[in-house]
Amino acid sequence: MHHFHYAGPNLHCESVDLAAVAQLHGTPTYVYSAATMTDNYARLKAGLSGLDLQICYAMKANSNLAVLRHFANLGAGFDLVSGGEIRRVIAAGADVKTSVFAGVGKSEAEIALALENGIFAFHVESEPELKRISHVAGRLGLKAPIAIRVNPDVDAHTHAKITTGKSDNKFGIPLAAAAAAYEAAARYPHLELKGVQMHIGSQLTSVAPFVEAVCKIAPFVAELKAKYGIKYFSIGGGMGIVYKDALASGQQAWWDAQAPDQRPLTPETYGAALTPLLQPLGLKILLEHGRFMVGNAGVLLARVEHLKRGAGKNFLVVDAAMNDLIRPAMYESFHEIVPLHRDTTRRALTADIVGPICESGDCFAKDRQIQELGEGEFLALMSAGAYGYAMASRYNTRPAAAEVLVHGSAFDLVNARETFEQMTGNERVPAFLK
Ligand code: LLP
Repeated sequence: MHHFHYAGPNLHCESVDLAAVAQLHGTPTYVYSAATMTDNYARLKAGLSGLDLQICYAMKANSNLAVLRHFANLGAGFDLVSGGEIRRVIAAGADVKTSVFAGVGKSEAEIALALENGIFAFHVESEPELKRISHVAGRLGLKAPIAIRVNPDVDAHTHAKITTGKSDNKFGIPLAAAAAAYEAAARYPHLELKGVQMHIGSQLTSVAPFVEAVCKIAPFVAELKAKYGIKYFSIGGGMGIVYKDALASGQQAWWDAQAPDQRPLTPETYGAALTPLLQPLGLKILLEHGRFMVGNAGVLLARVEHLKRGAGKNFLVVDAAMNDLIRPAMYESFHEIVPLHRDTTRRALTADIVGPICESGDCFAKDRQIQELGEGEFLALMSAGAYGYAMASRYNTRPAAAEVLVHGSAFDLVNARETFEQMTGNERVPAFLK
């Protein structure tokens, strides 16, 4: 469910006509719906309401300061992965004390920054990391709260680049070696054993792998509670969203029309399956969803540059590119693409929808059916709220896109389009070339 819909012929986000946003702020521009994020947060919380829950929004999905503040206002902490992300939480006026710090290669400076700001816990990925964290904590005269990431060796049945819970991934400590890792951790003077963590992958479309992983790890979690008095179990993130029928999935009617065995994962199904497995543990449960919280809450607006009619193929060339949204090029991901002004009298066109970047990979959609569009008309790439702007680059010296947040009938620029001076400001031509 989300708040993007046609009101008359024009695509709206909540009560805002998206063409007005495109005209005022130009394109490419990301637009986020505050109400959709609120709903996603509330549904997740309600879906697991039988548990003592802390939602740590995985801010790698979308770390715009306004988005962070919105989630903090709702009561979320954050799952963060770098010193930069710690600084973003603080800059957003939010609290690091309900946030967890993950990642396989935290530097000493990042560990110190997290400790100085009262991080809830470090999610530790290896034994050398235990040593490093204890060392930094000792230097600061502190005890570092930690949880070890246990790798359950479960296949998440998702794209190979975003599966993380198999034994051949770089993440976590295998279940068979985890007891020894906790014993080692308990011997460090500056570590406090606070929890246990797992995360098996991203964009999971069925609850079965989550259930399999929780069932595999739960007995070990109970042992840790008895032995060390751990306080929480983080089951990670990974809940998938609808990409194919993105626009239609904003309406309840679409969900009702799906056959039960075809229905994509919902927070209600997820909660119903996992709550009975987690409740008996009597621990605080942390969730680290990123994509589910923001994915369907954002679109990328673009303008048509040309309709190029080829011999056997049409190309709709737009002003957004793979530097703005890398997911189709990187993961062959599908994003629904819709016109901002729908005109049912127009012919349908089959075209590759491409950006202006000089490589063939700069393609958002192949042989896609879309209403015929011409130069200057706008379209929206749906489900772009997660891993969109956050993964953008400056390839081809294209500036970072603008970002806009919608709230009811109001909208505000929450990140101005980057300027050429900002892009090149740190570059220098050395004296020996002059
Ligand atoms: N927790 C941990 C430890 C993670 O590594 C991740 C994501 C999450 C939580 C959040 O996962 P989510 O709920 O968003 O699925 N760039 C890729 C996705 C990479 C996910 C990396 N880790 C994409 O665009 O599909």
